[in-house]
Amino acid sequence: MPLDEDKYPKETGRRRFVKGVVGSAALASVGVGGAAALDTATSPSGVGGGITQFVGIENTDGPAPRGMPIIPLEIDSDGALKGLWPEVQEETQSGRTVKVAKTDVGGVTYSNAWFQYCGVQNYEGLAPSADQDNFFRSNPSPTLEWQKELEGGAKLTVDDFSDYEEWGNNIGKSGVGKPAEATWRSDGDVQTIPVQVIRSKRVEQMANGEGKYSELPSDVKNFLSAATDQGFMAWLNKCTHFCCVPGFKTYEGSSKFGAENEVYCQCHQSIYDPFSPVSKSFVALPRPESDGGSEGGE
Ligand code: FES
Repeated sequence: MPLDEDKYPKETGRRRFVKGVVGSAALASVGVGGAAALDTATSPSGVGGGITQFVGIENTDGPAPRGMPIIPLEIDSDGALKGLWPEVQEETQSGRTVKVAKTDVGGVTYSNAWFQYCGVQNYEGLAPSADQDNFFRSNPSPTLEWQKELEGGAKLTVDDFSDYEEWGNNIGKSGVGKPAEATWRSDGDVQTIPVQVIRSKRVEQMANGEGKYSELPSDVKNFLSAATDQGFMAWLNKCTHFCCVPGFKTYEGSSKFGAENEVYCQCHQSIYDPFSPVSKSFVALPRPESDGGSEGGE
């Protein structure tokens, strides 16, 4: 599979960001690659990372180099939403034994490496064996008005989304999907992993391969069918450009960029289509050795 074109931002039909930003985006991309190279060269203690295939929501415009990775989710017997965190296993990478949370989801290899960018690779919650319960919890300071009624840190449940088929706010159309801003694997005094959860009829259609979604590649279709449930889908909400936290129907200004029904990053106007899942590759950055590996090899 080809790598994303991280080195240069792709051409867009609607160039809505100024040249300087394009320039800095290109530099940033080179910088990320440089950082990866530096990590490898100067920090032999880093573990894991490397070329990683993932399924994400597609980046459709703006300077972001690729989509944001989907987090397979589960719904427990109380109706609470959880992100899937695989059993931890050990594997040998470049002669060293490395811990990795990895499993097969609908025929796709899903692992913690999907989230190793934008500094998240260093977050305690991303350590394969971190003591976290995997529930998606309501962001204590949400932008979305409806979510302000929830207790901060409460588990998100199916009931919170019962009006998803008609829900709307003053941004874009109603009935596209109901979003929530969540945290994941972030309990205690650790960095917050931001997640966007959405419930939508379109997610159900994608998971069932209905209509235009019958044309999805079979690996993506099978993954979606296993990674979503009852119309719920989640992804790591870190823009792959400069790591801002985008939003679905959270920024009024998104309509100026035709993104009022999509996921919009207000930093430099990147747009992601939550209803266009794609399989991509990127170079995952290494994690700190303290949480990642055992002694081994050289
Ligand atoms: S578009 Fe630049 S950080 Fe999202």
